[in-house]
Amino acid sequence: MFKDSFKYYKSRNPPPDLKDVVDFSIPDLNKVRIITTQCVENQQGDKLGLKPIKEWRVYELIDVPGLIFIENPFTEIGQQYWILKCLKDYSKKPNKLNLDIHNVLNDNESWWDITFGNPEKGKNLLSKLRWTTLGYHHNWDTKKYSEDLKTQMPLEIVKLMDILADAIGFQGFKAEAAIINYYRMNSTLAGHTDHSEINIDAPLFSISFGQTAIFLIGGLTQEEPAVAMYLRSGDIVVMSEGSRLRYHGVPKILPTIIKPWETNNASESNTSISKNVDHWKKAKMYISEARINMNIRQVLKSGQMTLY
Ligand code: OGA
Ligand code: MN
Repeated sequence: MFKDSFKYYKSRNPPPDLKDVVDFSIPDLNKVRIITTQCVENQQGDKLGLKPIKEWRVYELIDVPGLIFIENPFTEIGQQYWILKCLKDYSKKPNKLNLDIHNVLNDNESWWDITFGNPEKGKNLLSKLRWTTLGYHHNWDTKKYSEDLKTQMPLEIVKLMDILADAIGFQGFKAEAAIINYYRMNSTLAGHTDHSEINIDAPLFSISFGQTAIFLIGGLTQEEPAVAMYLRSGDIVVMSEGSRLRYHGVPKILPTIIKPWETNNASESNTSISKNVDHWKKAKMYISEARINMNIRQVLKSGQMTLY
């Protein structure tokens, strides 16, 4: 049962044995299959913080057909770029935030500005940001998208997804909705399926940054058991085809030793992304005790312009 695996990995006392957690950084070829990428190098990739496609390692989980894993394809600067985007830009209007209903931020205040610029008010705010939605805004209650709840998807996300999708053979994928999930070290995400999209034939992309998650992927019903895997900073899970509607969740966040966002390589080739050193310092502090997940979906069928 999915719930049993969830409980097992969530438990603090006793702590779980992690020996069965699939670790794509030391791929076990009895469990994973190597996928070859479609190497159409794209100059945009460098600007979006991606390593050359020929360097990516891509796998499919043999027991879960359609579950594709791209091991961190981001440069160090690329990780910093996306972490900052999630913290500074995607956490403000016109995007929707979990904080909206609590009326803690005034119309002219952003989560980032208050959290890091107003010591008094900001202190409590840091850990209160849990999610933001972009594009077609996910409705957590009805699970239905609506044309009235739709804003512009950031162009850099659309472009990033074009490159990722093309590289693994999903030409035509369109990023139309995104959830940014912000996890603290004690956060979890309960088992669920993502079925709100009209187009469930299109894959769902899930990009992780920061601390490591144990991610569970189960079956089409709650009754089936789950496979556990590590998701580290930069790793991308693609739920396509037979895996698209499977139960999944995050029972545990683990502190990471490897920090691919910490630049110690001064000669890093990517100079097209500039960063504000002061902003990065704050983001680095945040991410040392947090995980960010960018969950990106296509909503409409190809050629469809609106929901209804
Ligand atoms: C989601 C989701 C998984 C993750 O947002 O629907 O499943 O790894 N996120 O955070
Ligand atoms: Mn999900």
